[in-house]
Amino acid sequence: MSDNRQGVASSSGCEYGETNHALKFLICPKASKFMSKKAFIEYQGKEYSEEQVTNEAKAYRSFMESRRSIREFSDRPVPREVIEDIIMTASSAPSGANKQPWTFCAVSSADIKHKIREAAEKEEYENYHHRMSDDWLKDLEPLGTDEHKEFLDIAPWLIIVMRKTFEIEEGNRKNVYYVNESVGIATGFLISAIHNAGLVTLTHTPSPMGFLSKILDRPKNEKAFLLLPVGYPAEGAKVPDISKKTLNEVSEWY
Ligand SMILES: Cc1cc2nc3c(=O)[nH]c(=O)nc-3n(C[C@H](O)[C@H](O)[C@H](O)COP(=O)(O)O)c2cc1C
Repeated sequence: MSDNRQGVASSSGCEYGETNHALKFLICPKASKFMSKKAFIEYQGKEYSEEQVTNEAKAYRSFMESRRSIREFSDRPVPREVIEDIIMTASSAPSGANKQPWTFCAVSSADIKHKIREAAEKEEYENYHHRMSDDWLKDLEPLGTDEHKEFLDIAPWLIIVMRKTFEIEEGNRKNVYYVNESVGIATGFLISAIHNAGLVTLTHTPSPMGFLSKILDRPKNEKAFLLLPVGYPAEGAKVPDISKKTLNEVSEWY
């Protein structure tokens, strides 16, 4: 810690400190023994007028409303750098205690993609022919899906999102918190980044997805969360004509 720190006492008994490097510290002598002294940095946010905020919200709404799940892909290549940026956008997501309990497995190997397709189609055959209830199959009808998953071979990339049920640091087991919530949010960021790059994806769940851990040789603390093919849409790709709920249906105001 810098020698130039100047402390200012607050009514809570905590002390705000500042260094000549503009780092801010909050030091609370009565705080839990687990709370260490941590550096704070100034938040670098944009400053918008109310009009700009209104316009930005509308523009982003319209941009995100144009996203659709795509099941027909082109084999047009996508550079690895694009996938790296998309993954890092996802990994900037909030997570319980900032544990970032995820691994994004990016697959472009034709051989591995094909192994994944074969295993996924096996599970999906069971799902569509034996495991799904009549109600479930009826709900899927408008989407026109079945056990065939050609896109797993065709899309240039598959991203398999793994959730970490615990961390392993130097051989020791470490806790993680709110794993499903955290990985769900990160996947939302991932989907938004894919859409923003002008690419398309599908949130795919060929459950049970244990075969993904085996094919990708993942450690025992990782479980497959979702599988997302990423690429360009096939020429003339079609999407189901479905609608979204209205603001009234999805919100309550207090
Ligand atoms: C958790 C989750 C699992 C999904 N699993 C599948 C899947 O296995 N196969 C599929 O074709 N679509 C799957 N979908 C995509 C949905 O069917 C799709 O998001 C929904 O029909 C709405 O369409 P839209 O994404 O174009 O708005 C899944 C979506 C979510 C959020």
